[in-house]
Amino acid sequence: MTDIKAKMTSPAQPPTPELDEQEKQLLAEIEKHKMPRATAQSAFTGIMTTENLGVSYGDFLAVSNVNLGFVKHEITALIGPSGCGKSTVIRCLNRMNDLVPGAKVHGSVRYHGTDIYDPSVDVIRLRRHVGMVFQKPNPFPKSIYDNIAYGPRVTGMKPDSMDEVVERALKGAALWDEVKDKLKQDATGLSGGQQQRLCIARTIATSPEVILMDEPCSALDPIATAKIEDLMEELARSYTIIIVTHNMQQAARVSHRTAFFTAEADEHGKRIGKLVEFDTTERMFSNPSDPRTEAYISGRFG
Ligand SMILES: Nc1ncnc2c1ncn2[C@@H]1O[C@H](COP(=O)(O)OP(=O)(O)O)[C@@H](O)[C@H]1O
Ligand SMILES: [Mg+2]
Repeated sequence: MTDIKAKMTSPAQPPTPELDEQEKQLLAEIEKHKMPRATAQSAFTGIMTTENLGVSYGDFLAVSNVNLGFVKHEITALIGPSGCGKSTVIRCLNRMNDLVPGAKVHGSVRYHGTDIYDPSVDVIRLRRHVGMVFQKPNPFPKSIYDNIAYGPRVTGMKPDSMDEVVERALKGAALWDEVKDKLKQDATGLSGGQQQRLCIARTIATSPEVILMDEPCSALDPIATAKIEDLMEELARSYTIIIVTHNMQQAARVSHRTAFFTAEADEHGKRIGKLVEFDTTERMFSNPSDPRTEAYISGRFG
């Protein structure tokens, strides 16, 4: 394929004989769904994609028609006002909504082409590949060592040396130097920021490919937040990261692509979350194509 990125930065052109099949398909997708170019582009290059993804809780449709593609070794930020469905969407990506009573997922999520909602998919294995870090650090009331070793043990990994797995994970989460002399101490004694890095270490201990983070810094002070942001940049060399954040500066600082959601009332006054715009972070913050994105990032609502 020729340099698709270069093509994407000029206005969409009609298919010409020089375009290969994939590019033609891409342009057709842009036309069909009126998708922003970055959406269509990442739908082709993403290791994980959502197609018309929606979620209802009972008879309440919380969010619908979400088309996203997550590109390997990129950080994608999901932003938007409270209640627009960011957590709902990110939970779909490793089937966390399976655990929410009444939640029903519509549309599809593909991971390397496989529909993760296919009944043949082993959810435990899926979550080993697509790990998750939550808003509030949630270490187990166990030693630091056992927190990290937990995932490898329950998923049946048989490493030559668990000590090495623990050390590597803690180094990967930039926590090793702070805890190497107290691995047997209870993890709940760590500071909030350390606990969150421990949770990141726990996630990477099972060697995932994708890490989902739902507002991982919202319970942390600015210094701990800055440490996690630095760490994310480092992690993106080895992992693909999808982060929900209500902090727009954070999205602008750390992410490569940004998806903006909002919730608008339908004709019956029900607020349904929807994806408004998905593009490179640079374009989203400098030249968004939708006035609602512009209003949100300039702080006029939300
Ligand atoms: N477990 C649930 N049961 C019922 N409604 C829910 C549940 N979780 C979220 N919702 C509703 O779905 C919508 C989206 O919520 P959420 O995904 O948490 O938004 P965000 O993370 O963007 O703040 C909201 O209207 C919220 O009240
Ligand atoms: Mg949320």
